[in-house]
Amino acid sequence: MKVILKKGLRTSLPTLVVFAAKDSKSGKPITEKISAELEQLFKMAHSDANFSGEKRETVFYRRANVDGYTHVLLVGLGDSKNLTSEAVRIAGSVVYGALKAHKITGAALHGDSLMSLREEADSIQALTEGLELAAYEFTDLKSKRAKEKPKGKGKGKKDKRAAEAPTLQQVTMAFGGSPKKEWSEALRKAEILTDCTNFVRWLGDNPGNFMTPSRLAQEAVQAAKGVAGLKVTVWNKARIKKERFGGLLSVASGSAEEPRFIIMEYKGGGKSPPVCFVGKGLTFDTGGISIKPSAAMEEMKYDMCGGAAVIGTLVALARLKAKVNAVGLVVASENMPGPAALKPGDVFFARNGKSVEVFNTDAEGRLILADALSYASELKPKAIFDAATLTGAILIALGNTHTGIFTRSDEVMQRIQKASDVTGELVWRMPLTDFHTEDIKGTHADLCNISGGRNAGSSTAAAFLEEFVAPGIPWAHFDIAGTAWNTSSRFPYNPRKSATGVMVRTFVELAENYR
Ligand code: BES
Ligand code: ZN
Ligand code: ZN
Repeated sequence: MKVILKKGLRTSLPTLVVFAAKDSKSGKPITEKISAELEQLFKMAHSDANFSGEKRETVFYRRANVDGYTHVLLVGLGDSKNLTSEAVRIAGSVVYGALKAHKITGAALHGDSLMSLREEADSIQALTEGLELAAYEFTDLKSKRAKEKPKGKGKGKKDKRAAEAPTLQQVTMAFGGSPKKEWSEALRKAEILTDCTNFVRWLGDNPGNFMTPSRLAQEAVQAAKGVAGLKVTVWNKARIKKERFGGLLSVASGSAEEPRFIIMEYKGGGKSPPVCFVGKGLTFDTGGISIKPSAAMEEMKYDMCGGAAVIGTLVALARLKAKVNAVGLVVASENMPGPAALKPGDVFFARNGKSVEVFNTDAEGRLILADALSYASELKPKAIFDAATLTGAILIALGNTHTGIFTRSDEVMQRIQKASDVTGELVWRMPLTDFHTEDIKGTHADLCNISGGRNAGSSTAAAFLEEFVAPGIPWAHFDIAGTAWNTSSRFPYNPRKSATGVMVRTFVELAENYR
């Protein structure tokens, strides 16, 4: 999709999109800086279609012939007293959906109607994000389209499906006056963030037989090609062995696919220590010998979404030329019950020397993350953030709305909350205490990979991870098992039955502010 900002409200496009907020007292739409004819249209929409300016509301007037436009789409932003960037992001996705439903491929957006209701530059960013996020669709593997290149891939490639699908291709945000410089910057930022988020979704939606550990690593290398300041190193199995990644090797031992360790380094912050992101890149989780039940097991292709988010974050930071040093570490493996697989009761030594007995091979994410967190600690970073589809228990606790955050640091939590408030990716702090650490002590080894009881499974998992973070390094664990896919019922800009690309935007926001 091509989005541009333009001076002057007239364009050659046939369709105009106009925004209104809702006056909670009168229940009527509030509009600003629009022509008398458009005002009239809103009045009509209110009386004929009960349009109030509420979130997700639209009315489409075909052949309205107003202000030089043939068709007009009216869109609600929601309560005028609560016009958050998330409300605008949602409106962006609603615009996309409505125009698609009417088979409209190009439209002008009445920029003044939006900016007069919510003046911040981030309105431009949020609107573009909503449009671009809503446009994502995973169609690569439908036989008709299989030969065409995927959209995005984190590097702004053109969508080659344009001719086939009658979707929105061109959006002109038109303003009465000249668009401000910060608005173009906001637009560019939104384009990079959404391009990288859509790339992460694409990595996630690819099935396990395509998106193997080696392929995931190749995609990281490919995405970083030509991006200034971004370096990617990939370790193969021999190197992983040499580096004593006992957890990663143990989990990978049941699979015919070799593991990979992906290191992405971005330098934009001079000599200061990096912010480190660590991701679980489990390309398919069968559970291993502690095999999972068949129901919904296919969803375990998404068990690499934390790793994908880290790849997307590093590409985004580099493309944004963020003034920060960042390192992304992705541990990639399959979890399979092959002949050499890890068995319940087996003990291995992790990179930091701690011994771990494995009572359940399905609690594998923490085993591979253990080595990556140890390695991250050795880099002496400013902070470590990990993202992982770690536990089913977080879904029970938080559902598919909030990502669970585990950290002992109030200061780190404040930073995360602040970033989340900006991006709209919801987070919720969960307990991580000495009680949970107590629960993962081993019998014949230092640690056990599961706790004795079934309760507080997400917290004991976090306590396990903490054992591999060097003391004193600020660290937070993001359990994205509930938010990494299938959240469209909550967030209209997320695709149905697809990966969400969650945490890219929040991680970028976090890193940019980590000075
Ligand atoms: N990848 C799963 C967690 C998961 C489950 C994510 C369902 C999303 C939906 C993880 O590797 C796992 O299997 N965890 C176990 C841990 C248990 C054995 C302690 C779980 O949550 O059941
Ligand atoms: Zn598992
Ligand atoms: Zn898993």
